[in-house]
Amino acid sequence: MLDLSHIESNTVELSVETFSLETFIRNVASTAGPLMNDNGNRLVVKSSAQLSEISTDPTKLRQVVLNLLSNAAKFTRKGTITLSASREARPGGDWIEIVVEDTGIGIDKADIGKLFQEFRQATANTYNKYGGTGLGLAVSQKLCALMGGGISVDSEPGRGSAFSVRLPAALNAE
Ligand SMILES: Nc1ncnc2c1ncn2[C@@H]1O[C@H](COP(=O)(O)OP(=O)(O)OP(=O)(O)O)[C@@H](O)[C@H]1O
Ligand SMILES: [Mg+2]
Repeated sequence: MLDLSHIESNTVELSVETFSLETFIRNVASTAGPLMNDNGNRLVVKSSAQLSEISTDPTKLRQVVLNLLSNAAKFTRKGTITLSASREARPGGDWIEIVVEDTGIGIDKADIGKLFQEFRQATANTYNKYGGTGLGLAVSQKLCALMGGGISVDSEPGRGSAFSVRLPAALNAE
């Protein structure tokens, strides 16, 4: 696992590869399958057509998506987690979007700002109820920034959350 100290000391190097986004999504989903069992959740995968190939760091992207899926599985009970991927053409080059959506506890608007901070959880009792260190999203956000993109969140308490990773489809390998 890549940790914050490595990322912050700029010793994390990107290892860019070109690979099929659809295959990547399928593989991540099968790795995350067992995570869904704990709370009786169901994982649904939706890939839009023409995902094609992307050039980025597959190991880091995998860590990010697995972090999001493990959060979704942890904060959802007897619900549905949806993993979807799409590709968007933009003037400067294509971007990809990977969304992890859940039907879980959701997050208060006022707490959203804390989520990507190190060692921060949405509420003071999150740790007592769910455990965790409050690092997953901080690390994931930094990894996405290294890959030229970011993560955003849309959530409603009691209804669920959607975390969206947006990245350039082709990162220059240098
Ligand atoms: N899918 C989600 N639904 C509801 N709350 C979430 C979700 N994902 C993250 N959160 C909130 O954001 C906080 C930060 O998430 P993060 O992944 O950084 O930490 P963690 O899961 O608590 O611990 P760690 O990932 O280090 O084991 C969580 O503690 C939780 O309060
Ligand atoms: Mg987490």
